[in-house]
Amino acid sequence: MQKLVVLSGAGISAESGIKTFRDMGGLWEEYDIMEVASPQGWARNPELVQKFYNDRRKQLLECRPNRAHLGLVELEKYFDVEIITQNVDDLHERAGSKKVLHIHGELRKAQSTKYPELVYDIEGWEIKDDDRCEKGFQLRPHVVWFGEPVPAMEPAIEITARADIMVVIGTSLNVYPAASLIDFAPAGIPLYLIDPNEVIYSDTSRINVIKEKAGKGVEVLFGRLTGEKPTY
Ligand code: APR
Repeated sequence: MQKLVVLSGAGISAESGIKTFRDMGGLWEEYDIMEVASPQGWARNPELVQKFYNDRRKQLLECRPNRAHLGLVELEKYFDVEIITQNVDDLHERAGSKKVLHIHGELRKAQSTKYPELVYDIEGWEIKDDDRCEKGFQLRPHVVWFGEPVPAMEPAIEITARADIMVVIGTSLNVYPAASLIDFAPAGIPLYLIDPNEVIYSDTSRINVIKEKAGKGVEVLFGRLTGEKPTY
């Protein structure tokens, strides 16, 4: 089976009701990135940071995967699909995708502030101020903040380097190193980009743009890749 590698961003979850970051009305219009998504912000006001992620986690519990997530699951009948997501939501997993690599962390997990390798599932939706790891240190969101290392980048590059087809869905390609993953796709493989808006990318000549929202865009992609109509 050919390997189909997907790089997804916030746009794939937009039709599930989850805000993106840089669109009109996006999260970064409402919040100061440095206050809620940086180690400095955490050091200054951990309660504000906890609340930011607790609120997003609570909202996520009411959201469901959309047709784009489901379409990627059905493509597993035709391809060895590996998803590399910048999203911290669990909608790919809840849709049924088997191979999902989160390169910016996972909203429904917590990590020790002292030993980041100690990661825990969060039952329910909140990390409380007195939640501690097994060694007695405060828990924080298991999310990669601006300025922090991206440990999953190495495996993500290895996966991308083995792609036979690559699909980029719902990302503004604004954030590095995630956005550089496209550059690790083998030269000459088919490259698709699904986004209703213009996305600035250096080598646009390589890209087959499907200028649609993710739900419709994945349906179009499905037809182009399989010649079939999806059943989801
Ligand atoms: N379907 C598909 N794409 C959409 C939709 C939709 N319904 N709605 C918006 N988009 C596109 C936008 O046009 C934009 O290109 O999704 C993209 C969202 O871009 P961003 O908000 O920048 O989100 P993303 O690229 O995932 O951000 C990357 O930045 O803030 C950090 O860690 C955070 O993982 C995040 C990273």
